Amino acid sequence: MRLVIKDTSDDVSLWSALYVKARILEAKPDHRKYFVLGLPTGGTPKGMYLELVKMCKAGELSFKYVKTFNMDEYVGLDRDHPESYHSFMWENLFKHIDIHPDNVNILDGNAENLVEECNGFEKKIVEAGGIDLFIGGIGPDGHIAFNEPGSSLVSKTRVKTLNKETIVANSRFFGGRECDVPTQALTVGVQTILDAREVMILITGSHKALALHYAIEEGINHMWTVTALQQHPKAVFVCDEDATLELKVKTVKYFKDLMTLHDKSITPNLG
Ligand code: GLP
Repeated sequence: MRLVIKDTSDDVSLWSALYVKARILEAKPDHRKYFVLGLPTGGTPKGMYLELVKMCKAGELSFKYVKTFNMDEYVGLDRDHPESYHSFMWENLFKHIDIHPDNVNILDGNAENLVEECNGFEKKIVEAGGIDLFIGGIGPDGHIAFNEPGSSLVSKTRVKTLNKETIVANSRFFGGRECDVPTQALTVGVQTILDAREVMILITGSHKALALHYAIEEGINHMWTVTALQQHPKAVFVCDEDATLELKVKTVKYFKDLMTLHDKSITPNLG
């Protein structure tokens, strides 16, 4: 596992966007072999999306041969609702880049049969050849996608009921009204994320510091589902200084030194 510590959340956005760009360019995708990205929503990845849009508009990066799979979607929220993850993705990324709409996969939280919808999503990931790079954020309680504390660490895409903490955290997107936040979501499972060839998790802000501590310094624990990534052979956490507040000084120092030594060799195209 790698931990990349940047000064600010803006630096996290730029670094992660450069990382995505490097991975896509290295893969040289074409009509026979698409690059497959797993994508998150939330406040944290917004800056990364902004940077990716800039790169695409500048002609430095193309999404023509990229397929995407989003992590999650609320159940029962209209697809056109401004807070649906469909709306979020189109507003923040897809409508600004050259991706073909057929290559965008977002779970349908209004599907008649939600179980079939989830199983079909897993099948589509397999048909696409698996996910090359899964990008995620985390909740303050260490959940990834909507894999709430206590979720199975071998779970696949399914329906989840949101816990109180997530509803409170996400109520900021619904005018602060907890009663307006959907109580269920469709989400990829922890195992779906672990199955990706590479995983990158973005963590910013002091309110995520405890979750980062669990992710890096504690053992695998289904109450902090992000800790499952300790079992992934290629996981990178990208955080800002604020998120490191609960880490030991020696942990921070170790990863900062490592970064100076190895960054260029591990991510050769990264500026
Ligand atoms: C939601 C999403 C997660 C996301 C988390 C954190 O719960 N299901 O995928 O990581 O929010 O969001 P934010 O980046 O806004 O803190």
